[in-house]
Amino acid sequence: MTEDINIQWYPGHMTKTRRMMEAELKLVDAVCEILDARIPISSRNPDIDAICGAKPRMVILNRIDMADPARTKAWADHFKALGYSVIQTDCKSRRGITDFSPALNRLLADKRRRYAEKGMAGKPLKAMVVGIPNVGKSTFINQVAGRKGAKAENRPGVTRGKQWVTVDAGLLLLDTPGILWPKFEDPEVGLRLAWTGAVKDDILDTQTLAARLMDALWQAYPQALQERYKLDSSLLPADFSERAASGRGFVLLEQAAKKRGFLLPGAELDIERMSGVLLEEFRSCKLGRFTLELAEL
Ligand code: G4P
Repeated sequence: MTEDINIQWYPGHMTKTRRMMEAELKLVDAVCEILDARIPISSRNPDIDAICGAKPRMVILNRIDMADPARTKAWADHFKALGYSVIQTDCKSRRGITDFSPALNRLLADKRRRYAEKGMAGKPLKAMVVGIPNVGKSTFINQVAGRKGAKAENRPGVTRGKQWVTVDAGLLLLDTPGILWPKFEDPEVGLRLAWTGAVKDDILDTQTLAARLMDALWQAYPQALQERYKLDSSLLPADFSERAASGRGFVLLEQAAKKRGFLLPGAELDIERMSGVLLEEFRSCKLGRFTLELAEL
């Protein structure tokens, strides 16, 4: 977790960030937006299109090592169909990182041609990386720059001289990522951001957070839950599908706690412990590689 997660995105903060971003955008020819491939909608900033205007855009679907491969492909197709250049990356293993420069070159081919026509063939083209906290911006920039360890400057409101990373001959990337605010107002979005660790998970108590995750996974990937926690749908109550999402999730959490033998003194089920285990196993992909949002095809 990075310190950015602690930032409270008050309206004043958003306005300031937006102004800074708009100023930085004047310096660049393209905007590369990093999304978490597990939640490409919820990890998007809602105002990104308005902020970027007509700049050429790239979508970087990151954390593909944690996401459902078939759904990642569907998301890549979705964003391509909307006119974005798309790459898919796993910044931990560097998978997809070498696709960045060719994709950026293609995205900016027209601009380069226009420069050449004006006799400015050698003028470097510039891009910047943007995204909500914790999507992997800093890691991505470090990977592209071939750096290890050193964290790219990653705090909003910090003004310093602009530094550029050379991506390829004639291609520069702003060393400082643009940090956008996540959209919390929608409770479903807040849940997905908390499950994936993009925001602190104290937005809800652990048991409710885990119950809602259990329910969401049961809808999308029931087999994985059945296999890992030995859940048995025949043991679920008959009115199961009628129950509210967290109620269904609690029933499943109880079953999983029972199978794991998580008991409190007095033989009461330790749901708190099971909740922590579920969240940890989801976040570390022990349950599988899941994408919680579907691309419209
Ligand atoms: P940010 O600048 O957008 O805030 O994100 P940052 O690069 O700090 O990355 C946040 C966390 O996500 C880091 O983990 C980073 O290693 C991890 N991460 C980034 N890209 C990927 C990816 O493609 N796959 C996986 N599995 N993880 C990724 P951390 O726990 O904060 O640190 P550490 O475990 O790397 O030490």
